[in-house]
Amino acid sequence: MVTRITLVEGDITEQQVDVVVNAANSSLLGGGGVDGAIHRKGGPQILEECRRLRASHWGSGLPTGQAVSTTAGRLPARWVVHTVGPVYWEDEYEDRAGQLASCYRESLRVAAELGARTVAFPAVSAGVYGWPLEDAARIALGTVAATVAGPARDLTEVRFVLFGTAAYGTFEQVWREMGVEGEERQGQE
Ligand code: APR
Repeated sequence: MVTRITLVEGDITEQQVDVVVNAANSSLLGGGGVDGAIHRKGGPQILEECRRLRASHWGSGLPTGQAVSTTAGRLPARWVVHTVGPVYWEDEYEDRAGQLASCYRESLRVAAELGARTVAFPAVSAGVYGWPLEDAARIALGTVAATVAGPARDLTEVRFVLFGTAAYGTFEQVWREMGVEGEERQGQE
């Protein structure tokens, strides 16, 4: 089965998918941007489960590039997969680009383990963490395209939800340049 990879301009908290991926920080205790929106709209259940994760497996926080799942609370999704993106830092580009790719690979692995069929991603690290959007798009699209051709082949859709027309346009342009199969584009959700 070919996994559809789609680009949507909109708000990730409104996506009707099995898994919504959160651009979290290692504390898992919330923040701004996507993290703030997911906790605000998803409600306290998400934070309660994050706290339990911290108390059990992740005492010192979730490492960059890794992913864990919780309930989606009041969101129109079944689960939230929290992943911690790298902060952009030119000097350590190579290592950190690998960590950003790992966010997508690990989130898809966790989603597939949950039995999810549809997953929505934000542009991880491209906000507060300062990753240049075009490069974030290249890493995101390239990693997802490679992963759905392999371990995550049972997913029916991976949706990139971009906040605002500029972000959508950048992803679309990178996607076109990469000429990756299975691409569908949707406009405003
Ligand atoms: N839906 C979709 N995309 C969104 C939304 C939303 N509701 N809100 C913000 N974005 C976009 C941003 O415009 C950016 O392109 O998601 C991308 C990621 O931005 P951030 O949420 O700032 O995530 P990140 O750059 O990974 O920084 C993570 O920010 O919110 C804190 O707790 C979080 O410390 C962590 C850090």
